[in-house]
Amino acid sequence: MTMTTEIILETQNIRKQFGALIAVDDVSIKVRKNSLHAIIGPNGAGKTTFFNLLSGNLEPTSGKVIYKGRDITHQPVHRTIHFGIGRSFQITNIFPNLTVFENIRLASQALGSDNFKFWQASSHFKKYEERTWHVIETVGLKERAQTLARTLPHGDQRKLELGMILAPDPEVLLLDEPTAGMASEQVPELIALIQGIQKQGNKTVMLVEHNMNVVMSVSDAITVMHQGMVLAEGTPAEIAANKEVQTAYLGGLYELNV
Ligand SMILES: Nc1ncnc2c1ncn2[C@@H]1O[C@H](COP(=O)(O)OP(=O)(O)OP(=O)(O)O)[C@@H](O)[C@H]1O
Ligand SMILES: [Mg+2]
Repeated sequence: MTMTTEIILETQNIRKQFGALIAVDDVSIKVRKNSLHAIIGPNGAGKTTFFNLLSGNLEPTSGKVIYKGRDITHQPVHRTIHFGIGRSFQITNIFPNLTVFENIRLASQALGSDNFKFWQASSHFKKYEERTWHVIETVGLKERAQTLARTLPHGDQRKLELGMILAPDPEVLLLDEPTAGMASEQVPELIALIQGIQKQGNKTVMLVEHNMNVVMSVSDAITVMHQGMVLAEGTPAEIAANKEVQTAYLGGLYELNV
């Protein structure tokens, strides 16, 4: 077990208003290094907006984001990627007319571009190529490397997307509904892949996921959001037993099978 009590990512009263709507309402959470931390809550609870605040895709109205002890609140997304925060989007974000290899190579180059010098081009090329093959193998797409992304089955597209997040070797992965739209029989494979990356790769994973069986079985910690606020947080067993959560969100439908 590599999980520690060290906090890698923290928010302090982070808030995002869209006009009169408070999408994220003074949320304070602490994410332990090397943990799998799920964010759950009904549609419109503010989960995606919260991820956008962590990744720098959105500027908060107020509050702070602290990453490895450093205030990154006002850093834009191209900076947070450099710091080691990688994120996915709820909607598939791949280049359909490029191959699997080209998609991942582009993503792996995202980190190097700031320091790019033309006289280093050939060593960079080799480095990115090696990195690309490593990532392709990690996500299990070696046989598909030369396949155009748009012709991949949906499940493989989600693996490709995961590979694109992994390519710059982030320490924290923000995964927004990575299993969305997948056939239910394909879900366990992708989840096992995510868990493998988290555990073997010593990554911290934050996961937005609607499938309660998945959330309850893989999470080290769960934060429940409701109407922009944190309704509850705890281990899967604590969340499943929480009466407020059951009433507001789970509707008594989920029963913990332990
Ligand atoms: N750019 C925006 N402008 C205005 N309102 C927004 C914007 N983005 C999100 N919202 C609103 O903020 C609230 C939270 O939305 P968000 O997408 O964060 O919820 P979510 O928990 O991710 O929901 P879902 O489970 O459906 O993905 C919703 O009421 C949404 O309509
Ligand atoms: Mg969302």
